[in-house]
Amino acid sequence: MKILNTVAALREWRASVPGGKTIGLVPTMGALHLGHASLLDASERENDLTIATIFVNPTQFNQSTDFEKYPKTFESDLAMCEKYGADVVFSPSSADEMYPDHFLYRVSEHQLSNELCGEFRPGHFEGVLTVVLKLLNLAKADHAYFGEKDHQQLSLISGMARAFFLETKIIPCPTVREASGLAMSSRNLRLSPADKEIAPGLYRVISDFIDPLQARSELERLGFRVEYLVDREESGAIRRSVAAWLGEVRLIDNVRI
Ligand code: PAJ
Repeated sequence: MKILNTVAALREWRASVPGGKTIGLVPTMGALHLGHASLLDASERENDLTIATIFVNPTQFNQSTDFEKYPKTFESDLAMCEKYGADVVFSPSSADEMYPDHFLYRVSEHQLSNELCGEFRPGHFEGVLTVVLKLLNLAKADHAYFGEKDHQQLSLISGMARAFFLETKIIPCPTVREASGLAMSSRNLRLSPADKEIAPGLYRVISDFIDPLQARSELERLGFRVEYLVDREESGAIRRSVAAWLGEVRLIDNVRI
């Protein structure tokens, strides 16, 4: 497995890949868990070569403390990438490496990105779309893998790929959960022991309660501070999305109901 820290090195590697080989791209911010592993696994099954990227993208954090406290577990991330079959890990050495333009050029979407998480995290999806477009352009992959756990992110990235006629196919991957039902997330590492006990209630309540208002009050009774809990129609079904805080940790989840 190759570890590359510069855009130049990634481009050089990409140029050396023979034309017939297929490439899968798995973008991450590190602190890898079995949710990320499932994306690597899918890529390894469906492509000749897999590029994993590890970059805590500063432009998608609207709170500097969330950026600073984002868990960093680089050594175990590399072990995970190796175990799940990555051929290349691209881990840019600095923000300047990815943003030679100092974020003067950005990708913005003007509808969905202002709703749900976007309403509470202004600029977040602009940061996500911008860095993902850069990664897609560098990797020139056949497939890129994204988790349904971040369903709004996945929809926006798929929309961007269609809007800009990108050649890479965006592949959705199902949410991986702990045995308790809690969606795996790098931010779970920051939950206090007491909040770890409460956290599985998020998935249980959004799956079990029919009425969204009752679901919301039940979450509040359990100790969550609910940011939003919204049911929306999506290709003939209803998707329920939620964001809620436990202490200083913001959790998101979604289910089809
Ligand atoms: P990150 O939170 O590290 O997630 C990387 C990818 O793993 C995303 O596609 C996310 O949806 C997926 N993922 C996370 N937890 C998952 C789970 N429990 N089950 C399945 N998939 C899961 O999302 C980002 O990073 C960033 O916004 C990024 C796309 C890398 C751009 O910076």
